[in-house]
Order: sequence, then structure tokens, then C-alpha cells
Amino acid sequence: MHAEHFRLRQTTAADFPIIARMWNAHYGERYPLEPSVLAQLARTPWYDPALAWIAEYNDDVVGAIAGKAPTVPWLPPDLGFLSYIIVDPAVQRRGIGSALYTTLVEAIRARGRRWLLVGGDPGHLVPGIPLEASLATWRFFCSRGATLREVFFDLLLDLRLPLPGTLPETTTLEPVDAAHLLPFLARVFPGRWEADMEQYLQVGGTVLGLWTKRKLIGFVAVYVSGQSYRGPSQYWAQALPGPAGGMGPLGLAPEARGKGLGIALVRGAAQWLREHGCTFAVIDWTKLASFYGRLGAHLWRAYQSVVLPLPDTLGHK
Ligand SMILES: CC(C)(COP(=O)(O)OP(=O)(O)OC[C@H]1O[C@@H](n2cnc3c(N)ncnc32)[C@H](O)[C@@H]1OP(=O)(O)O)[C@@H](O)C(=O)NCCC(=O)NCCS
Repeated sequence: MHAEHFRLRQTTAADFPIIARMWNAHYGERYPLEPSVLAQLARTPWYDPALAWIAEYNDDVVGAIAGKAPTVPWLPPDLGFLSYIIVDPAVQRRGIGSALYTTLVEAIRARGRRWLLVGGDPGHLVPGIPLEASLATWRFFCSRGATLREVFFDLLLDLRLPLPGTLPETTTLEPVDAAHLLPFLARVFPGRWEADMEQYLQVGGTVLGLWTKRKLIGFVAVYVSGQSYRGPSQYWAQALPGPAGGMGPLGLAPEARGKGLGIALVRGAAQWLREHGCTFAVIDWTKLASFYGRLGAHLWRAYQSVVLPLPDTLGHK
């Protein structure tokens, strides 16, 4: 196959099953992706269909890429994102990945972006490149000028095991509505968490509020196994041998920190998930392995953040 034998076209919803199949051919054992997750991501306000392409060869889908160029006050205006790039393993090293990448980069540059972050986009599929990425994948990015940055983890809590500690009697943990949560987030965690939680409540999701003396001092989003809207912590739930929920983001008001309430909040959320039928809880996209480790959450998945410069002209072959 030569480069001129495949063509690129814009992605449609009908492509999600085959994109998931290509993803699973690389990562299915540890990151099994269901097409419905891609469909859900495409329904978020962040999805940009003009920045999503398919590579076709003889009417067969052989590759896919998706990116974003969000304009929000909490992200640098010159930052674009690569949400995912995937090429059928049977047809790698034939220029398909390069063609998809060049097409995305040109479109993102045309939106005034100078940097491309892989993963971690609003409405993300992955927070970075999975630990299990092939050497070819790393070579692909490094030969295009990638700088490798932070490492993030998904942690796993086995809810069949005892959970140490309890919430102090002066606090309660219960579902919180938008009227109370959004002003709290605007004050304490303005930006992405505020936007994500507003959206999650709109689709009927549950966010637990930590209260003391009728004052909201913390929050944690919880995702129950079987709920129709999947949290990012549940994207790979099929890899687990039992009902898997998830939690996060979570946080405390500054005045509530340093008193052991953080771990109590996580414990409360884990207890809530257990009571709602979950055997496992995933805590996604965190660097705080030793914090959550105090409850028994262990390292489950890892990702490395990658940033690439977007040059004026693409000098790469
Ligand atoms: C990364 C990935 C998309 C690359 O796809 P690809 O189609 O193999 O990419 P290309 O063929 O365009 O380029 C791969 C290499 O083959 C080389 N190449 C291209 N055409 C070639 C040819 N005809 N003969 C020999 N080599 C060729 C390219 O120069 C490139 O070299 P480089 O890596 O040193 O830059 C693919 O490996 C993949 O799907 N990885 C898994 C998914 C993943 O982890 N994505 C990132 C997280 S979302």
C-alpha cells in the first residue's frame, strides 16, 4: 500500500465501532474500549467533529485521529489536543499515521495553536499515552519532537476488602445538587472541574458533598457500575472481574485540608459505591498514589503526558 492508495475523510458516529476495534487490537486486554464510550465523548460539548478523521483503504477503515482546540479561560489559548491516534496494526509503518497526524496538525495550527498535548483534553479518552504503548508509538511521537512530561495513574480499590477509618461524626456525605455544588466549585476549583461537574449533574450523575454544620466543605463525583453515563474512571471497566464504579474528581475547601478529611472523603465515596453494588472502584488520572494507597488503592494503569511543538512548516518526512 502506498500513501496515495488511502484517503482521509471526516469521522462519523458510524465509525465508532471500527475505531474501538482498532484501539482494542492494540490495547484491548488492558484498556478495552466500547464504541458507546466514543459515542458518549462525541456528545460532550468538547467534541469537535471537524478535527476527527478516518483513514480508508479500499473502503476499509485503517486509521483514525481526533483532536480538539478548545477555547476556555482555563487553558492556554495556544494549546491544542490530540485525543487519540490509532492505526490498524496490520498496516502500520506505511505512512497512514503520519498522514492523519499532519492533517490534524495543520487544522489545529489554523486555529492558532502552537502546542499539541496528547490526551488530557476536555472530554478525554486517555490522560496521556498508556504505559503499554509500543516502541513504534513512542518513536512516532519522539521523532516529531515530543517532550515527555508527567506520569498519571489510575488506581484500583478492591471494595471487598475492609476500608480503614470513618467519617468524623461532625460531617455528613450525601448527594449534592447543582445549586450548592457549582458556587462551591467556582470558588475553590474554578475551571475544568467546575465545567465537568456541571455537565455530569446535567446528565443525572451523582456528586457527593461533604458537609459540616450545613456548610459544604468538599465534593467527590461517583460513578456506579451499570449507569448509562460512564465516568472516565469506568472506561476500562470491562478489564475488571466484577461491577466497577469510579470516583473523582474530588477535593476539599482549603479551610478543611490537613485534618484527615481527604482520606475520609475517599473512604465515604468508596463505601457509597460498595453500597450501590460495586466490587471495584477506580480512581482515575491522579499523581497521588501514596495518598490513595492509605486506603488500599493500588496502581492499576499509567499514562505519560506528551507535548509536541507545532512548527510553522511540517519538516517531517
Ligand atoms: C502511532 C501510530 C498511530 C503510528 O501509525 P503508523 O501508520 O505506523 O505511522 P506511519 O507509518 O505514518 O509512521 C511510522 C513510522 O514508519 C515510517 N514509515 C512511513 N511509511 C513507511 C514506509 N512505506 N516504509 C517504511 N517506513 C515507513 C514513518 O517514517 C515513521 O517513522 P518514525 O516513527 O521514525 O517517524 C501507531 O503505531 C499506533 O496506532 N499506535 C497505537 C496507538 C497509540 O498508542 N496511540 C497514541 C495514544 S492515543
